[in-house]
Amino acid sequence: MKTSAGQWNQSKFHSHGEIYHVAFDHPYSYPVCFTRDIFNARNDVLVKQAAAENCTASIKSMVFIDQGLIRRDPGCMDKICRWFEHQRHVFELVREPVVFPGGEAVKNGWDHVNRATSAMNDAQLDRHGMLFAIGGGALLDMAGFAAAIFHRGIQLVRIPTTTLAQDDAGIGVKNGINQYNRKNCIGTFYLPKAVINDFYYLRTLPFDHFIGGVAEAFKIALIRDSSFFKFLENNCGRLKQRDDTIIEQVIKRCAVHHLDHISKGGDSFETGSSRPLDFGHWSAHKIEMLSGFTMGHGQAVAVGVALDAFYAWKIELISKTDLDRIIFAVHACGLPVWSRYLEMADASGRLEIQNGLEEFRQHLGGRLTFTMPDGIGRVCELHDMDFNIVRQGISFLKRLFKNHT
Ligand SMILES: NC(=O)c1ccc[n+]([C@@H]2O[C@H](COP(=O)([O-])OP(=O)(O)OC[C@H]3O[C@@H](n4cnc5c(N)ncnc54)[C@H](O)[C@@H]3O)[C@@H](O)[C@H]2O)c1
Ligand SMILES: [Zn+2]
Repeated sequence: MKTSAGQWNQSKFHSHGEIYHVAFDHPYSYPVCFTRDIFNARNDVLVKQAAAENCTASIKSMVFIDQGLIRRDPGCMDKICRWFEHQRHVFELVREPVVFPGGEAVKNGWDHVNRATSAMNDAQLDRHGMLFAIGGGALLDMAGFAAAIFHRGIQLVRIPTTTLAQDDAGIGVKNGINQYNRKNCIGTFYLPKAVINDFYYLRTLPFDHFIGGVAEAFKIALIRDSSFFKFLENNCGRLKQRDDTIIEQVIKRCAVHHLDHISKGGDSFETGSSRPLDFGHWSAHKIEMLSGFTMGHGQAVAVGVALDAFYAWKIELISKTDLDRIIFAVHACGLPVWSRYLEMADASGRLEIQNGLEEFRQHLGGRLTFTMPDGIGRVCELHDMDFNIVRQGISFLKRLFKNHT
């Protein structure tokens, strides 16, 4: 790391001591690649992006892989091992790939982080080692956290294998595990060496995990890009049919919006008290938790987006026509716009998602801030939420659901 010169501060305001300011100058970039069939011997993307050009010795490497992926594609383990054998002059696989359960179970608590760091320690991975994490957003969150803390950080290559991980969860700078009954309560910001989005993995996804990432695309289109919303609206039928060309375009456009926000938005490590991209997420996180994670993140976000779109209409940020377009398009993709967890109450009769609102405020650690569309494709921030409108929204979505079943 290059450290630029520090500075003595001799300001009169510091009359009781001297202050030496430590300044860092550490630009960083990483590639996010879109490709197909990464472990095919003829595909050189991984070697080109993960290994340094002037690399002389082979890099000690380990692979963590998602069990859900292997279950659907049992041959993928052999293929990966053959690829590493073929590339052994660049990457030395120090042990066979380590399989972790897929889904939220892998990041619920410390157990798998302990397993991960123990495996890295047993294989004598040193601080220059490289971890290839292959799987859904949950596995990548756990593996990314383990990579960030082992030897204070080893090189991390993420290979996201769900739609949601490719267009959101697996491409950025965050990782985390759930603890104290809170999502992502423990985690770090940690920059990957490279991210490789391999569309080949999408073919084995169950429908819910195939379409889940489209909820994040709606989220970002509604607050950032009206033409992207139109694209989603025009293609909802094809998305429901699992059209390859359309889903690949959705992933790319959604990923680029996220990456631009992280790299150019002025707050890469989220020091501010808002979460500018988290439209629809305050309720989504609570819905996921209440469902015991039987409901995926994407499905919960779809419900959260529908609920917040209703709110945006009620306070005249969007028109009724816009609300109808949003709800129709989300639903037509095969995503839910209603969940019974919206109505779940605690022992005192208070709606659980109202408790979720308080948890969201605590997580922000400052002023309550919500992101909302201000017309489709434009963003605004609100600091108060009228829960009576949220209740009306719950009844509205429930009525819609009943009329469609
Ligand atoms: N770090 C971040 O910035 C960030 C952002 C958004 C979401 N997230 C997190 O991401 C997680 C959700 O990720 P997700 O939606 O990818 O779900 P997931 O990781 O829970 O995976 C869903 C299921 O798909 C299986 N699977 C994975 N790849 C497969 C494949 N190619 N074929 C068949 N099955 C496969 C998994 O085993 C799992 O059962 C949540 O924990 C969420 O909090 C993180
Ligand atoms: Zn999300």
